[in-house]
Amino acid sequence: MMNELSRRDLGRLLGIGAVAATLPPLFAQNQPPRSSRRGGIRLSANENPYGPSTSAANAMRDAMRLVNRYPDEAQDELVTTIAKLHDVSADHVILGDGSSEILKLTAAAFSSPTRKVVMADPTFEAMGEYARASGAEVVKVPLTSAYAHDLEKMAGVPSAGVIYVCNPNNPTASITTKQNVRAFLQSLPQDTIALVDEAYFHYADSPDYESVIPLVQMRPNLVVARTFSKIFGMAGIRCGYAIAQPSLIRRMNQQKAWDSMNVVALAGAQASLLDTAHVVEGRKRNSQTRDEVVNAVKQMGYEVVPSQANFIMINLRRGVRPVIDSMRANGVHVGRLFPALPQHLRVTIGTPEEMRSFVTAFRTVAA
Ligand SMILES: Cc1ncc(COP(=O)(O)O)c(C=O)c1O
Repeated sequence: MMNELSRRDLGRLLGIGAVAATLPPLFAQNQPPRSSRRGGIRLSANENPYGPSTSAANAMRDAMRLVNRYPDEAQDELVTTIAKLHDVSADHVILGDGSSEILKLTAAAFSSPTRKVVMADPTFEAMGEYARASGAEVVKVPLTSAYAHDLEKMAGVPSAGVIYVCNPNNPTASITTKQNVRAFLQSLPQDTIALVDEAYFHYADSPDYESVIPLVQMRPNLVVARTFSKIFGMAGIRCGYAIAQPSLIRRMNQQKAWDSMNVVALAGAQASLLDTAHVVEGRKRNSQTRDEVVNAVKQMGYEVVPSQANFIMINLRRGVRPVIDSMRANGVHVGRLFPALPQHLRVTIGTPEEMRSFVTAFRTVAA
C-alpha cells in the first residue's frame, strides 16, 4: 500500500481523512489519559490533562503507516496550513521539534559571545540555557510588581542579540499588556531580535492581551513562537513553529537539522489546527477548573497571581521547597522551585478530579 501512495494520498492521510475517521479514538472524551507515568497526579509541567483532539489522535495513529518515509510532504502541508492560519506566505514559517527547538534556533542564530540574550526573571529558563550554549551572556531583568515584563529595562540592555518575551509568562501565568509590547517592539533597534513566546496564547482572554503575530509583517526583527504542547495536548510528540519575516526564517533554518520533524507529530499538528472546537472546549474547561481552584486556595488565605494560562502561581509566604516535597509525599507533583520567587508554588490546572485531590493535599500540607 505504501508504494502506491501518491503525494495527494499522503496529504489526505496526514489530515483527517476517511481512514482516520474509522479508527477508535485514543482518548475518549471523558477519560483523560493517565495523570503521570511516575504515579501520583502530575501538575508539574503545564501539560494538557485531556490530550489531543480525537481527530488529531486518529491522524497520528494513521500516520504510523508512513514512518518509513521522510517527512517532506507532511512538513510542506503543515507549513501551508500554518501560513494560511496566520495570513502570511509559507516563507514566514519554520517548524520546530517542539517550540523548544524554535527557542534554541533563535539563540543559535541571533546571539553570540558579543550579542546577549535578555530575559525576564523568572521566566521559562530554557532560553537562558540555549543562549549560554551559544556563548552568549544572559541578562535577567526582574518582572515588575504586577508580574509583567519590564520591557523598558529589557530594551535598555546594551548589545542585546535577542530579547525573550514570554507572554503569558511561565511560571507566573501573568501577561505583559499589548500596549507595552507594541511600544517595546517599536522602540527596538533593527539588529536586536524580539522573540515573543506565545506557548500559552490560547488560554489568555484578557482584553489587555494580544498575539503579536499580526505585527510580523511590519517588524523585520520579530520572531513569534507557538507550540502544539499546550492547548493542543501534544507535549509528548513534539511540534512547534515560529512566524517571522523570511530573512530571519532563513537564518534560523541554517541552524536546523534536516528533517527534524516526524510524520506522526506533523499529522497530529495538521489535524489539531483543523479542529477549532477542541481549542474552544479546552479553554473553557481550563478556565472553569482554574476558577474553582483559585477560589478554594484563596479561601485558605493565600494570594494567587492572576492567571492567563493553564497554571497558577500561589504565594505561600514561606519557602516553597518543603511544600513541593510534602505535596509529592501526598501523591501530587507540583512545579519546581523558581529561585526568583522562592515562596511561590506553581500548579498546573489538571482535570476537576485531579484538582480536587490537589486541594485536599494542599489543605493537609498547608496546615
Ligand atoms: C513558555 C514556554 N515556552 C516553550 C515551552 C516548550 O514547549 P515545547 O518545546 O513542548 O513546545 C514551554 C514548556 O513548558 C514553555 O512553558
